[in-house]
Amino acid sequence: MIISLRDICQIAEQNNMAVAAVNAASLEAIRAAIAVAEQTGYPIIIQHAEVHESLVPLTTVAPIVTSLAERSSAQICFHLDHCEHLSYARRALDLGFSGVMFDGSALPYEKNVEFSKAAADMCAEYGAGLECELGSMGSREGGDPSEGGTAEEAGAVYTDPELAEDFVHSTGLDALACSFGTVHGLYKGEPKLNFDVLRDIRSRVNVPLVMHGGSGVSDEDNLQAIDAGIRKINYYTYGVKYAGEAVRKMVAACEEQNSDAVVYWHDMTTTAYETLVDTFEHIVRNFANGAEPLA
Ligand code: 13P
Repeated sequence: MIISLRDICQIAEQNNMAVAAVNAASLEAIRAAIAVAEQTGYPIIIQHAEVHESLVPLTTVAPIVTSLAERSSAQICFHLDHCEHLSYARRALDLGFSGVMFDGSALPYEKNVEFSKAAADMCAEYGAGLECELGSMGSREGGDPSEGGTAEEAGAVYTDPELAEDFVHSTGLDALACSFGTVHGLYKGEPKLNFDVLRDIRSRVNVPLVMHGGSGVSDEDNLQAIDAGIRKINYYTYGVKYAGEAVRKMVAACEEQNSDAVVYWHDMTTTAYETLVDTFEHIVRNFANGAEPLA
């Protein structure tokens, strides 16, 4: 079943856990996310990022996700990730999305508030939830593969806790994406997260907090982030990296056995699917933070 971003974040609040929000730019990833939610009994968020329009268009991904999610027993939020255009958000909501992240983090503060508030009004028309970002992670989702590294290198600006208070009240958002040391893309070395920033924000605003750049972060750091108020963790890059590596290994093993081996496309997608299931199952259980399965 499809539930709104607000409702899924409330489930996370009540259970002191975070919900995995996986960017699913392929049928394998969509199916893996739903299978893991059904198998584990934990809710899941399936995301489509505006920047992934070139991988799979909105009008293609929306009917696939809505039809699979509607007939699933799992609690699923269908969320638009990093949307920078209100017209794109409206198209997504018309197609059945139950959550939107409006990303005004690159805008001056007043403009970020203005557009985020407009996004909140739009989401309210559809009964969908809204996530917004304050501060900046520097690296952009779906950007140059060489982006990422460390938060400093990416030019991150940590979320200002005092400003967060004003931002939450001025926009009426349901979840706040915070910059506190994570980056999109591949990390260079160990991610260094500033949990004090999160704790400070959380002590001022009583809304679910969101961690972007969640893939590549250790299980221990995820639990610390949840302890500090993170309720939604976005996950993409390492999941598709592990799937790509598994496909490469499978092809190499076939060729080692027989240099004329035929490797079919469906062999590759099956390997990718199985790897995504393993990865998603691991993170969903980690993010559950010991909560009992909910379904
Ligand atoms: P990664 O690309 O680092 O996994 O982050 C995903 C994300 O934050 C999507 O918004």
